[in-house]
Amino acid sequence: MAEEPSPADVEAGLLAHLNSAGEVPDSRSFASSLGVSHLELEGVIKSLSAFRIVDSTDIIKETWVLTDEAKGYAVKGSPEAQLVAAIPPDGASKDALKAKLGDAFDVGMKAAARNKWIGFEKGNKDLVLRKVENVKDELQEQLKRLENGEVVPDKVIDDLKKRKLITKEKSIWYSLKKGPEFVVKRKTLATDVTTEHLRSGDWKGLEFKDYNYGAQGQPIAKGYVQPLMEVREAIENIFIMMGFTEMPTNNFVESRYSQFAGCKGPYIPNTACDCCFFASFWNFDALFQPQQHPARDSHDTFFLKAPAATRQLPEDYLEKVKQIHQSGGYGSKGYGYDWKRDEAEKNLLRTHTTAVSTRMLYKLAQEKPFAPKRYYSIDRVFRNEAVDRTHLAEFHQIEGLICDYGLTLGDLIGVLEDFFSSLGMSKLRFKPAYNPYTEPSMEIFSYHDGLKKWVEVGNSGMFRPEMLLPMGLPEGVNVIAWGLSLERPTMILYGIDNIRDLFGPKVDFNLIKSNPLCRLGL
Ligand code: PHE
Repeated sequence: MAEEPSPADVEAGLLAHLNSAGEVPDSRSFASSLGVSHLELEGVIKSLSAFRIVDSTDIIKETWVLTDEAKGYAVKGSPEAQLVAAIPPDGASKDALKAKLGDAFDVGMKAAARNKWIGFEKGNKDLVLRKVENVKDELQEQLKRLENGEVVPDKVIDDLKKRKLITKEKSIWYSLKKGPEFVVKRKTLATDVTTEHLRSGDWKGLEFKDYNYGAQGQPIAKGYVQPLMEVREAIENIFIMMGFTEMPTNNFVESRYSQFAGCKGPYIPNTACDCCFFASFWNFDALFQPQQHPARDSHDTFFLKAPAATRQLPEDYLEKVKQIHQSGGYGSKGYGYDWKRDEAEKNLLRTHTTAVSTRMLYKLAQEKPFAPKRYYSIDRVFRNEAVDRTHLAEFHQIEGLICDYGLTLGDLIGVLEDFFSSLGMSKLRFKPAYNPYTEPSMEIFSYHDGLKKWVEVGNSGMFRPEMLLPMGLPEGVNVIAWGLSLERPTMILYGIDNIRDLFGPKVDFNLIKSNPLCRLGL
């Protein structure tokens, strides 16, 4: 048998043909003229097209192909012709024919009877007689023609379909022309200088393959930063550039009773000291938030079962907070209700990072002489809320505050403009608002170019004297402060509209991996 042509031979044959004839109208018949499968020619075409040596155009055709059964008939003849050929002049018994034809027997009997090629002797249904001398095996002919890609009449196709001898298949072949880089023989370009090249000296004559600067590198196997952490870092950098110092926020949950690293409290089993947990006191009372305030309800706040209460609170300060709630002071009338220590001792998961700001301001107030401070924090807070597209029971808050003598609302607006314009939000508007701990208070809105509307981006205000003076901060010292969630700007920046795609168990790791390294805006 002649040896199969190698891909190099196929390539040479194709290029020589294109060189002389100028085109190949149908790659399938060209493949058979070369004596190779179409698949093999296809490989060569693909490689030549990539280098624009040939131009190929797809020809998509639906063709009828033979089933395995039909392929057998194309070789051995149709079952009816096989059957007739197997009958000797005197006839043959069914059993003998069955033994000879095997699977083809039943079909062959039926078809041969239909063609009136066979008959039976009267009274002997077992002896099959031949009624024709020679049969013309049209079925075999048609199958062979189909196999060669020739056209057969529709009527034949219908018959073959009925006999389940053919199925439809989609195939692609090509028409080919010379490409812009056409050559009769491709030069093999070297990709490397090897020791062999150097030894033999043939490197001098070599032509080298160009570097492909457009090639995509392998994706790097590395860790990827969660969008929230990425935006957190960007915001942290803005705070640091503006001269702010981070507040310690690492105690939103402490799983041991007392004694976390750095805890100063005595170890009392089942009891938390106040540096390990957030007592309502720091989250609400010290912020001049009355004990009947709806946010202090268990529907809004997660309270701890164990340890349920904080025993250690700064007694002098606690007394002053009690006074300001009950009967006022420093020019305030207070709320005029019976303040309960039990309520203030209840441990909770902090509902805002302003609880941390309160602790830090209290600490600052104890340091004499007073020194102005700029503080920020970005960390987790918890609210007992129904989860939906924009709300989770835990999220992150960004908070900034400046504590100094003589600060005004104008200072607050100026700092907010600086801060938010660094975040890419330079158009700001303010709306009067209410917080128990700030007066005046302002909601912050920014014009979103993408959404073409004003969106709320944060809340702000000047801490009330009822909050600052009981701490021991000097008269005339003001605190301007603001807070916003980390999730909201991140969702806007990353075009995410469901918070659960950003945070929590439903986050898709592929989304994190495919996030761009740099974005406009932040
Ligand atoms: N604590 C406020 C909140 O949870 C944000 C805020 C911080 C408001 C500081 C005013 C001043 O939304």
